[in-house]
Amino acid sequence: MNNNPSHIAIIMDGNGRWAEIQGNNRTYGHEKGSEVVRSITTYCAKNPEINRLTLYAFSTENWKRPKLEVEFLMKLLQKYLKKELPTYLKGNIRFQPIGDLSGFSASLQKTIVEVQEATRHCTGLTQSLALNYGGRDEIIRAAVTLQASNTPISHDLITSALDCDCDVDLLIRTGGDHRLSNFMLWQSAYAELFFTDTLWPQFTTEELEKIIHKFKQVERRFGGLH
Ligand code: IPE
Ligand code: IPE
Ligand code: MG
Repeated sequence: MNNNPSHIAIIMDGNGRWAEIQGNNRTYGHEKGSEVVRSITTYCAKNPEINRLTLYAFSTENWKRPKLEVEFLMKLLQKYLKKELPTYLKGNIRFQPIGDLSGFSASLQKTIVEVQEATRHCTGLTQSLALNYGGRDEIIRAAVTLQASNTPISHDLITSALDCDCDVDLLIRTGGDHRLSNFMLWQSAYAELFFTDTLWPQFTTEELEKIIHKFKQVERRFGGLH
């Protein structure tokens, strides 16, 4: 058995609880969580087996949170992207956001597009941040696009109309809950699912390495026989 963890997707959950356990504001957890985004991305960029890393950063449902927390997350995202551009370039990492970016302010959209453009030539890891992303929303947007095209519907056509046209091999959720929360519904059809109680700010490259090691032992049958 030698599975290749070509596309890893992570539901980065547990920031708020991590901060609250220590008597801090939830926002502190998001700040710490953004540092883990950097370290995990850098690790994946150095591993030639990993071609794509998709990180769930803000869901279509996260707008339900208190206004102050949402505003903090928007500012943090903008700050992160501006600050980390050298990390992307140094690591030959291409930034490719997924989700409905039209939900964001003009200024944040501009920063997102700038980083996307500035890293377009990078040929190493593709890092996707899922921003205002929902699996159902992605499928609906794809269906609306296809409705206008009058082309016969097929698996490949639907895949190509989605924000992300790449199947997930390994899907990880931190934070102890065992659910998808509307993440990569189409792309995860045959993903291997790994759940850990570790809260995202505490997640390490060592734990990721252990998960990849276990992933490699799994027999993936895709509905066939071994
Ligand atoms: C995940 O951590 C980050 C986002 C959803 C933006 P949470 O903020 O959901 O943290 P918990 O799950 O409440 O601890
Ligand atoms: C999923 O975490 C979304 C992100 C990690 C961005 P949530 O904390 O929003 O998920 P639920 O509410 O526990 O399902
Ligand atoms: Mg959560």
